[in-house]
Amino acid sequence: MRFFLDTANLEELKTGARWGVVDGVTTNPTLIAKEGVPIEEQIRKICDIVNGDVSAEVVATDTDGMLTEGRKLAKIHKNVVVKVPLTRDGIRACSLFSREGIRVNVTLCFSAGQAILAAKAGAYFVSPFVGRIDDTGWNGMELIRDIVQIYKNYSFTTQILAASLRHSNHVIDAAKAGAHVGTMPFKVLDALFSHPLTDKGLDQFLKDYAKAFQDAPVSR
Ligand code: E4P
Repeated sequence: MRFFLDTANLEELKTGARWGVVDGVTTNPTLIAKEGVPIEEQIRKICDIVNGDVSAEVVATDTDGMLTEGRKLAKIHKNVVVKVPLTRDGIRACSLFSREGIRVNVTLCFSAGQAILAAKAGAYFVSPFVGRIDDTGWNGMELIRDIVQIYKNYSFTTQILAASLRHSNHVIDAAKAGAHVGTMPFKVLDALFSHPLTDKGLDQFLKDYAKAFQDAPVSR
């Protein structure tokens, strides 16, 4: 499973990149707005930090507008994946982009039927939003499992990018379901490191070692 960070914050991205476990980035208009920097400038900076797919979302809602914005975004860097919403205009833009060789992430996917449309339109990624479905009282992970099965049945090549992952179990369950990618906020990636037995075990190892060697440092 590839790990993407769902953020436009450069400090979070630098930290994640230093850990060597970040394979890409997803952004959306909300995340870009939070940083207060125009999208083209921010996406360029992100591409300098993370060597992997970087999703940049259009804000136009009509196909022509999406095509104009998306082509501009795609020119920023070879790793940019243009993100479009799962609307009629978005799916049409996705079909046209894919014929031009521009990779597309179809976002705001909330049903298996929508995921089939994205695959048929040649999407590179489809982004089902797990957490937002959970918020409505339904089971977001069921959607991931359904899409994995349907895409397998028809050998669709669109990759499933499990999005709106809110905690560690979402990441683990998306991996068990077979999502190709999980995109998560920095705090969720950070939380994956934590286990009380790791801290306890390390503490014990260090204490035992220090006791045996009277606090002498390891010779270099
Ligand atoms: C994905 O591309 C979205 O930016 C994101 O995962 C949405 O997450 P949220 O529902 O926690 O805002």
